[in-house]
Amino acid sequence: MSHSISSPISANRRRFLMGAAALTTGAAGFRFPTPAIAQGAPLKVGFMLPYSGTFAKLGKFIDDGFRLYVERQGGSLGGRRIEFVQVDDESKPESATDNMNRLVGRERVDLVVGTVHSGVAMAMVKVARDTNTPLIIPNAGANEATGPMCAPHIFRTSFSNWQVCQPMGKVMFDEGRRRVATITWRYAAGSQMIDAFKEGFTRAGGTIVEDLALPFPEVEFQALITRIATLRPDAVFAFFAGGGAVKFVKDYAAAGLNRTIPLYGAGFLTDGTLQAQGADANGVRTTLHYADNLDNPANRVFLEAFKAKTGQDGDIYAVQGWDAAALLAEGLKATGGDWSARARATSAMRSARIDSPRGPLSFNRAGNPVQNVYLREVRNGRNEVISVAGQAVDDPARGCRVQA
Ligand code: PHB
Repeated sequence: MSHSISSPISANRRRFLMGAAALTTGAAGFRFPTPAIAQGAPLKVGFMLPYSGTFAKLGKFIDDGFRLYVERQGGSLGGRRIEFVQVDDESKPESATDNMNRLVGRERVDLVVGTVHSGVAMAMVKVARDTNTPLIIPNAGANEATGPMCAPHIFRTSFSNWQVCQPMGKVMFDEGRRRVATITWRYAAGSQMIDAFKEGFTRAGGTIVEDLALPFPEVEFQALITRIATLRPDAVFAFFAGGGAVKFVKDYAAAGLNRTIPLYGAGFLTDGTLQAQGADANGVRTTLHYADNLDNPANRVFLEAFKAKTGQDGDIYAVQGWDAAALLAEGLKATGGDWSARARATSAMRSARIDSPRGPLSFNRAGNPVQNVYLREVRNGRNEVISVAGQAVDDPARGCRVQA
């Protein structure tokens, strides 16, 4: 496991804080109303993300997005300096409890931000509940995290697996697709996303001809692609992400299926992957809570700043990291940077209204985003909005007992 500790607090910033402290008592005895906490220890944020494996780029972009937001606030949120500790979770559920305990126990972080993989996230949620550690999930869609496992100190700045896929059912039916095959990795996120799509599609009147799956994170798609060619469905709905999504879309096109059986999916199939997929992704339609060409001021600021910092185009993962920092800022602003007033901080976070690059972002009683879900199509290397598949889509938070 790679584990590193880095502090973004520059010498300049430290000098500034010392200078500010010296200024608080001038010759006339005047005191500036500096928040006491601004002079205290930094808030320690533990990143538990995949920095290796098929989701490595996703983890890096979440990390970059979060740090970028904090840097743009001068290294502090709500007057409180922020420092980071990071752990590579490798998208391995079997190591997740140890990794989380390491952050909470040994590193004594104030809150944890993570992760990408739903199975890993479920273990994190359990530790966060057992140890009363605040957690912001910047990707993993495991429905339970904001369902039966919900808690007032657990938040998500991404989506639930249900939320991004259920709206696609009606979209595909309305586009005339009647017999659809599904394909995914056999793990929590895969089955939940496929179930959500099927819920929307069969309710609209569609028929599922076959569900295909392979173990996470395998990428030997050939036999399943051959099966799709034999089944000849009207269309395919897929969930893959990261390196696996790149390979699936390329293999699908190499088999010539992109010309005969239209490919649809959860937006992760083509987000952060288009450079590697090239023309093979053209025409793929997906639903997601973000699109490259969303024309709002927050998205323009975000895309420009992300490009300037990393030299790369921002994507949904970077947006989710950026918004995780924006959400934490709401909590720290409400308490003048005092994280010991946690209940006030987390309740301010629950009622936050964030002007996100994705559009308006608020939270339901379970801490899951309420947000637009867009229908996008890949055109010239970009995920472009075609329509809003669902306005202010909420998650049902099935099984969550936290009251509003
Ligand atoms: C998940 O496991 O919840 C997951 C992973 C990668 C994605 C989306 C969801 O892009």
